[in-house]
Amino acid sequence: MTYTSILVEQRGHVGLITLNRPQALNALNRTLLMELMEALEAFDANPEIGAMVISGNEKAFAAGADIKEMAEASAVEMLERDTIGLFDRIRRIKKPVIAAVSGWALGGGCELAMSCDMIIASESARFGQPEITIGVIPGAGGTQRLTRTIGKALAMEMVLNNRTLTAQEALQFGLVNRVVPVERYLEEALTLAEEIASRAPLAVRLAKEAINAALETSLSEGLAAERRNFYLLFATEDQKEGMKAFIEKRKPQWKGK
Ligand code: CAA
Repeated sequence: MTYTSILVEQRGHVGLITLNRPQALNALNRTLLMELMEALEAFDANPEIGAMVISGNEKAFAAGADIKEMAEASAVEMLERDTIGLFDRIRRIKKPVIAAVSGWALGGGCELAMSCDMIIASESARFGQPEITIGVIPGAGGTQRLTRTIGKALAMEMVLNNRTLTAQEALQFGLVNRVVPVERYLEEALTLAEEIASRAPLAVRLAKEAINAALETSLSEGLAAERRNFYLLFATEDQKEGMKAFIEKRKPQWKGK
């Protein structure tokens, strides 16, 4: 598959996708989003891959949806194009996806980072939802995911008044997992992804699914989903191997079965 707006490579058991429109600060146009989702889905289906990392460059993870692509569009055209609908495909990815964020993560860029399972930020990362400054509001989950993650008060300030968060503030408010120097943010994300990729694949998949259930359901439904997944794992060879290896005091050999 040849891509024009992303770079794709395999690093060990990790699929690395680099957003590659530096001249536009990685603005998320339709082509880029389609390529990104195709690459994620291909890695998700590849048994050699255990986790994915999405990165940009030091200056920008992504400065939002491509304003030039939508500036003249009518509501009907926007509805028919449904570019934002492409974002939904990331929700169906079963393997963990980590965002490695440096520089700007604005608008759709911040929403893309929040759609990932974890965020590793460089010290220069800046998170914001500046749509209000161009006469609109977030459209790819910003009002929902920010509010669930950092709370209503700060989400209001960010969305209604373009308050941006520094990397340290994002860490303080629970938006990112950790903040590291710019030179190390990508390696840190790749190392975390490789560590997760070395774990029992079906347990990782069902753990991710259960955590996401916490955001979508009542506590009772979430607990039931968790318990189903826990019991289901006793149908896997990896559960037998993991518990046997513990008792025999050796390292488990995962099969993903
Ligand atoms: N769409 C299209 N092009 C963009 C862009 C975007 N979101 N962000 C930056 N660019 C382009 C600029 O137009 C510029 O291109 P030219 O050289 O051809 O003029 C190039 O990238 C470099 O940008 P700047 O010269 O503006 O760089 P800067 O360092 O001076 O400023 C910035 C950086 C503060 C991030 C500024 O570019 C900016 O404010 N960008 C727009 C941010 C924004 O409003 N994002 C929200 C988009 S709407 C959205 O995302 C909706 C949604 O929820 C899905």
